[in-house]
Amino acid sequence: MKNQIFILLVGVIFLYCNSKNEVTESTSKPQTTPKTLKETLPFPLGASLSPTKLFSIAAYRKTVDAEFSSVTAENMMKMHIIHPETNRYNWLRADTIVNVAKQNKQRVHGHAFVWHESTPNWVKGFQGDAAAWDSLIKSHIQTILSYYKGKIGSWDVVNEAFNDDGTWRNSVYREKLGDDYVAKCFKWAREADPSVLLFYNDFGQESSEKKLQATLDMVADFKKRGIPIDGIGLQMHTHIGISDARITNAIQKSVETGLKIHISELDVAVNQNNTANFIYTDALKNQQSDKFLHIFKTYRQIPQAQQFGITFWNVCDSDSWLRSYFKRPLEYPLLFDDNYDRKPVYDKLVAEMQK
Ligand code: XIL
Repeated sequence: MKNQIFILLVGVIFLYCNSKNEVTESTSKPQTTPKTLKETLPFPLGASLSPTKLFSIAAYRKTVDAEFSSVTAENMMKMHIIHPETNRYNWLRADTIVNVAKQNKQRVHGHAFVWHESTPNWVKGFQGDAAAWDSLIKSHIQTILSYYKGKIGSWDVVNEAFNDDGTWRNSVYREKLGDDYVAKCFKWAREADPSVLLFYNDFGQESSEKKLQATLDMVADFKKRGIPIDGIGLQMHTHIGISDARITNAIQKSVETGLKIHISELDVAVNQNNTANFIYTDALKNQQSDKFLHIFKTYRQIPQAQQFGITFWNVCDSDSWLRSYFKRPLEYPLLFDDNYDRKPVYDKLVAEMQK
């Protein structure tokens, strides 16, 4: 008798639990899973990454894994880090990013062989004639490109070679390799890998017409002379005050070159003047949201073959370089807030991109 009661009881509990499961499953399962932004886009969505954060902040890693289909190393492939001494390359931290991207099936965009701000001291102090300088930079580019052959399919070859007024920026590279140093770098890169995509990357084409024109002229000149170039990186470190027309202009004119266009370092600042006690009000959030929508809408309209992707510079607001580099603690320039939660603009973008 006791046994029968026990079996009955177990049976009742089993039935009860099962019915509970059915109820919770059928009520909690949404009809269709909401799409992530990257799933709604016909082009890759990227972010710049720090390898340390990938392994020390769980929410950072989770967001990177779930939300992006392309990654750029924020700093780890820059010359002062990846090539810190004459004959020493430091691959470890860059490799970490490449390996995580591989696990996540994300594309890796290489950034950047030559940038005046990442020149190591050993290069600044290098003594040699013109041929020795050529060989130094050629070998720097070709060594990294060859090391990552098959793993990184695109590179920013030269970063920020122009001043805002469209003149060439003075740098150790221009001084030592000559006025035509940008073209030289592109040729050396192509020599090392005929299939890798080569980008020229710069900021402020949306705020300076002269700088935009300088880039377009350089591309036209490269084409005329047969210098290889595949893409233009518009960094788009911009702000809510910029007009939509200026953004459209920079994208449209760049598209006319026929090259691939990468919005390569997107952030939309709201507190550019670093106002103390700044409040990120709903009105400012809406303005920022409109700016993001304009950028994505405009970009989606360009020919698909030219859509290389949109990459955000950093993952969430608290990771933003605008806070650390420019010491603007009250800056909120990205799609994810300080807690890695999606901002309301995220859903607006998803809805817009599905239209
Ligand atoms: C920035 C990084 O985000 C910072 O961490 C670093 O201290 C300086 O460089 N244009 C570029 C990027 O091409 O490489 C820069 O990244 C931001 C401006």
